[in-house]
Parts: sequence; C-alpha cells; structure tokens
Amino acid sequence: MSSTAGRIPREFIDQLLNRVDIVDVISSRVPLKKAGREFMACCPFHNEKTPSFTVSPTKQFYHCFGCGVHGSAISFLMEYEHLEYVEAIEALARTAGVQVPREGAQDAPKRKRRDASLYGLLEESARWYQGQLRQTPAAIEYLQKRGLSGEVSARFGLGYAPANLSLGRELAHYGEDKLVASGMAIRNDAGRVYDRFRERIMFPIRDRRGRIIGFGGRIIGEGSPKYLNSPETEVFHKGSELYGLFEARQHTRKLERLLVVEGYMDVISLAQYDVTYAVATLGTATTPEHIRQLLRLVPEVVFCFDGDRAGRDAAWRALENALPELRDDKEIRFLFLPQGEDPDTQIRQVGKEAFEAGLQEAMTLSAYLLTALKERYNISTREGKSRLLNDGLKLLATMPTIFLQEQLSGELSTLTDMPLEVVRRRLKENLSTTIELTYNQARPSDQDVRRTPARHAIALLLHYPVLVEVADSAEQILGYDLPGMSLLASIIENIEEHPNIHTAGLLERYRQTEHEQALKRLSNWRPETDDETVIRREFTDCLQQIRRQAYEKQLETLLHRERTEGLSAQERNDLVCLLSELHNLGS
Ligand code: UTP
Ligand code: MN
Repeated sequence: MSSTAGRIPREFIDQLLNRVDIVDVISSRVPLKKAGREFMACCPFHNEKTPSFTVSPTKQFYHCFGCGVHGSAISFLMEYEHLEYVEAIEALARTAGVQVPREGAQDAPKRKRRDASLYGLLEESARWYQGQLRQTPAAIEYLQKRGLSGEVSARFGLGYAPANLSLGRELAHYGEDKLVASGMAIRNDAGRVYDRFRERIMFPIRDRRGRIIGFGGRIIGEGSPKYLNSPETEVFHKGSELYGLFEARQHTRKLERLLVVEGYMDVISLAQYDVTYAVATLGTATTPEHIRQLLRLVPEVVFCFDGDRAGRDAAWRALENALPELRDDKEIRFLFLPQGEDPDTQIRQVGKEAFEAGLQEAMTLSAYLLTALKERYNISTREGKSRLLNDGLKLLATMPTIFLQEQLSGELSTLTDMPLEVVRRRLKENLSTTIELTYNQARPSDQDVRRTPARHAIALLLHYPVLVEVADSAEQILGYDLPGMSLLASIIENIEEHPNIHTAGLLERYRQTEHEQALKRLSNWRPETDDETVIRREFTDCLQQIRRQAYEKQLETLLHRERTEGLSAQERNDLVCLLSELHNLGS
C-alpha cells in the first residue's frame, strides 16, 4: 500500500484540484441544483429542509450557510466518505485517472520500518497471534467447537494470545511507548509495561481499508470479562468503526444490504453460513456516524437485536439515531430475535435460508416506531393519545423531509383521531425549533473572531484571489508591524506564484500548518455580494486601514523616540513622509 510512502508533493495537489471539478465530485453524491453562478443542495452534513449548501465552480469550494462546513473537493471527500487526507487525495486522483506521486519514493521501504505508525505494529501483532493460534491445539479446538472452519477463521484473521509468551517482548523493537499507545500493552502505576491480552482468542478489527486498528479478545470458555477490547487509540475510534465491514465488502459480490449485529462471533458465524454482509458495533450503541456510513454503502440496513429488554433499549436508540439519516431511497428494518438467541445461535438452528427469510420479514422502521409508541401509551384515553402525539412528533421532527415523514404524520393522525392538518401544523412548529438550534450552534464559532482589517483582507483574498492585483506587495506587508501580516503576506505570495489558484487550492496549501484553523474560520466570512466592483472597494478599504494602522504605529514610535532620545536626520525624514502618507490616507 502506498500510504506509508513519501509525502505527496504540494504541486501535485494543486494540479489535481485544478483538474477535477468539485461540482462533479459533489453532484455524483449529492444532487445539486443550479442557482445563478453556484449550485445548491440541502446540506449533506446537517439536517435541513431548505437548501443552504452551496458549491461554487469558480472557487472550487463548498460552503453551508446553515452549519458552516466548507472546503475543497478534498475536504468534501474526507467529510462525506470519512476518508483521511491521503485517502481523499487518492480517491480524487482515481477519478481524474492520475497516479499519486510520492516524494523520495525510492527510499520509502527503508523509512517505512523506521517511522512505521501504529498500523505496522498492529499488523505484526495480528500476524504473531495467528502464528500462536496454529501452535495452540486448545484454541483451535475451541473455534472448531464453535463451528468455525479454518477458512472463515483465516478470513477474519483470528489468532491467539498465549499465556506464556509475550507480544510485548516479541515486538520490543517498537519501544514501550508505542506498544502502550497502540493499546497492545498497559503501563501500570509502578511503570511496568505488560501485555493487555493473555490467553484469549484474538479478533483483529480492521478499518474500511483493511488496516488493523485494534483487537477484541475472548476468553476460552467461561470467565470474566468475556471479551476484552483495545482501548480508543489514535487509530481506533469505536463510535465510527464497524467490525466486519471490510470483510463484508471483500466477500460479498454485490453488497445490497447490511445487517448490524452485536458481537464478533455473530459476524463470523453468519459468514460461516454464507451470510457475508453482517457487521457489529464494538460494544457501543449504534451511533449516527455508523448509520451514515451504512446507508452510504447500501440501500437497506437491518438491525438485529436480542428479544430481551437490553436488546429493545438498544433498538430504540438505533431508531432515534437513524431517523435523521433516513432518505427516500433507503430502508431500515429491525429484526428481533427470540428471547435468549443471538444471530450466532439462530443461524445454527435455522440455517441460511430461513434466516434470510426472517430478514425479509423484519419489521420496518416505521412499523417499529408506531408499535413502540402504542406500547408506551394508553391510547384509549385522550391524555394517552396526546402524549403519544407529543412523543411521535418530536421524533418525526428529526427526520428529513421524506415521504415516510408524511406517511407517519398520517398514521399518527389516524391513531389519535387528530385531524391531519393539526398534526402537520404542529410538526412544522417542531421543525422550525430544531432548525433554529442547528443555526445557533453553527454561528458563534464564526463570529467570535473579531473582524480586523487584516482578517477581512485575508478572507476576501481567499474568496477572490484576483484581488492580489490591487494588494500591496508581500514585502511591504511584512514591513507593517501589525498582527496577521505574515499570513497575509504569505497568501499574497502564494497567489502570485500560482496565478490560477482558487479558494480551495489556497486552503489546501495551508492544511496541516499553523494557519489552518485561522484560515478555515476566515473562509467562512463571505462578502454579502458578488459584485466585483463592490468587493474590490471593500478590499482596498481594508488595505488602506491596514496601512493607516501601520503608519500610525510607526509614527507613535518615532514621536516617542523624538521626545526621549531625539531623531537622526534619516528618521526625521521618515517622520515627514509618514505624516504626508497619513494625510493622503485622509486621517
Ligand atoms: P455478547 O455477550 O452477546 O457476546 O456480547 P457474543 O457476541 O454472543 O459472544 P459469544 O457468542 O459468547 O462468544 C456482544 C458484544 O459485546 C461486547 C463484544 O463486542 C461482544 O462481541 N462485549 C461483551 C464486550 O466488549 N465485553 C464483554 O465482556 C462482553
Ligand atoms: Mn453469542
């Protein structure tokens, strides 16, 4: 894999961003409507009814006025597809049909050993555990007893953490700090470092790209805790990872449905029975992030829960998290297993065919929602009906505007004998309060940055790089002793070096630099107009203010010196010039 090779050259990223069109990149994922010079859509990153997400072809930049997200085609892919920076560049390069070059690609293999990240360590751990499994008959026997073939165990990379050998010792060359950072070792209070996993069947957890990011370890037979898991680390985030997703994508010819179960063993057992599209959350509840990922991949997601109390609670939480993510072309279902069964035991009993037939008949999300509400309230009373309506409308208000929302409004109206108009009106009222909330949350972060002329000038340049024509030179700017000047000068230099650069390209140049955050915030400031004469005037005004502030500051210093130690002839000359400059600036 190329990810650990050298850096991607800056110039390549510039060229790539010039080559692809952000409109194509986004419109293949989110339907866009033309609106003047820009394109608009309902924002894919927050829940809204009226479009406030804009894509500008000239700036190659997207921006949502509702929630404030914005950036280049690269940032869009990172956000939308949950890719890392390098992955997003690789994905873009693929669509453009170009190879991603690497700096110093020849010596990469040597470097790889040196600064191998946690991925290398985790990969080596998995390989070692696999080797240990082959040498431990008791562990092999356990897996056989649980009905797993060697083929399926190998597909999921199962291994064994032995009792008498230490992974930490085996991988000592990585150093204790790295072992601890990877979650594979624990440092106790006395400072001693020891293996996290001992005497356990090891389940490697892979990310979407197949890289190992953590492990689950099951005790053989009875004991507590039954499963031990890697902690959250730099590369392992339980709320956004799904166990088995990589394997499901690898081994299912056409992935049309995903089944969400609770345990590692459920995923593997189902795969053993050729139900290869199951994934598991990692001992956490299903997060909105999980649901977004799933719905992006397939049109149908089935949640599978135990029939017990805990299973029902987990199902309800999944429903709440799923509502905002629903779309007209997606479907979510809930399968409740008989008490005491989990998917592992269930498929063993009934086999693939009957199990899949059960999936086919699983409860739709809307049926589940209505059933659960009806169970909760006594609708033979008026009070029960209105409490049900109150709850139901709150849930509906979190949904996007889709047919299902309309259908459910109808159902609620029938169920409670409430006229449909009333239900609809109340829903609308609920909607406006939720939207306001997202707006309010998005705004402060933009506004808590005070608007100084320097910041204003930077924001304008970001959006209209051509303004560089009327800007002072980078050298002049650096001569002004004011905050923000080094960034302003650097942007001017960047635009002068790359005259065709657009907003997105500029922002990319500052990614992972000290200025990244500041620029991101400033790129949220947009001129109210796109009339270029107005914008030009705004920009020249900013520069005048900057000059005036700089001159005033210089003047103050000179006047102070004159009073204290006196001025040289040169300085006296400067003072006169400054005064006349300031006079010209009209202060
Ligand atoms: P279960 O207790 O349902 O286990 O936990 P299981 O998947 O049926 O496992 P087997 O069949 O007994 O081997 C479901 C999931 O909850 C997490 C694990 O992710 C497990 O797969 N869990 C459970 C833990 O993290 N720790 C535990 O001690 C138990
Ligand atoms: Mn089980």
